[in-house]
Amino acid sequence: MSKVTVVGAGAVGATCANVMACREVASEVVLIDIKEGLSEGKMLDMYQTSTLMDFDTKLVGATNDYKKSANSDVVVITSGIPRKPGMTREELIGTNANIMKGVIGNVIKYSPRAIIIVVANPMDTLTYLALKSSGLPKNRIIGMGGALDSSRFKCYLAKATGANINNVDGMVIGGHGDTTMIPLLSKATVNGVPVTQFASKKKLQEAVQSTMVGGATLTKLIGTSAWYAPGAAAAMMVEAILNDQKKLIPCSCYLEGEYGQEDICIGVPAIIGRKGIEKIVKIELTKEEAAKFTESAAAVRKTNNVLHEINAL
Ligand code: 2OP
Repeated sequence: MSKVTVVGAGAVGATCANVMACREVASEVVLIDIKEGLSEGKMLDMYQTSTLMDFDTKLVGATNDYKKSANSDVVVITSGIPRKPGMTREELIGTNANIMKGVIGNVIKYSPRAIIIVVANPMDTLTYLALKSSGLPKNRIIGMGGALDSSRFKCYLAKATGANINNVDGMVIGGHGDTTMIPLLSKATVNGVPVTQFASKKKLQEAVQSTMVGGATLTKLIGTSAWYAPGAAAAMMVEAILNDQKKLIPCSCYLEGEYGQEDICIGVPAIIGRKGIEKIVKIELTKEEAAKFTESAAAVRKTNNVLHEINAL
């Protein structure tokens, strides 16, 4: 028996709930939103796909009623406003920091043992806020960004190399921002073979650039931020936790000296299992990648400082 709550029934939250339901990741999935009827409606609609998709996950929708989320094993927080075309994720901080503070209190009140996955933007800063304002141990608050950015990197690497997308491996670390994320070309492979064997330097650099603005590209095309990959990335992390999969997933973790940084949540490779972040994995970075990581941390820290300016911390 396992229970997952998703807070925020927008496109990302609902997609995450849907992926988890279809894959029967948990026995119960609860979706909560402040908008009257939205979660109930989406979960009823989803329930009606049970016989079509062959799953029997219990699905519950609730309007701002956190009692329904009680004793969740994992809680995914997607609530907040999405970015519009031309906006950066960082510009969302004022509104979304306040929303996060309200949500996190309710989440831990009813699910004191839950592992929390933060999806809302600016993701690294809201992960930091969730950690600091909840007082939870650092293994229990995880930011989703690197999982999503790595899936986008693999997509663009597959396009650049012509390889089967499921043969492609690639990792993105650093902040979850258009200029702060660091796709690690030095580690990217097609089934273990360096990608440089399959595409020109120019094409690979284009894949890196496309990854970095991956979210902005979709926001421009769709008119609001993306949801299929963000929702699926969060669902994949929930699965890794509930099934104690010990997967190596790049995600936003609280650092205490690792990678030369402290008092910050930022994307690094970590082993994700039943205890949440079970281990931060130290990988060798090139000089250039290490310098980019330092710059990325400085940019994330700048956004974190806004939390004090707006009295969120
Ligand atoms: C994205 O990159 C929503 O931040 C998310 O699409």
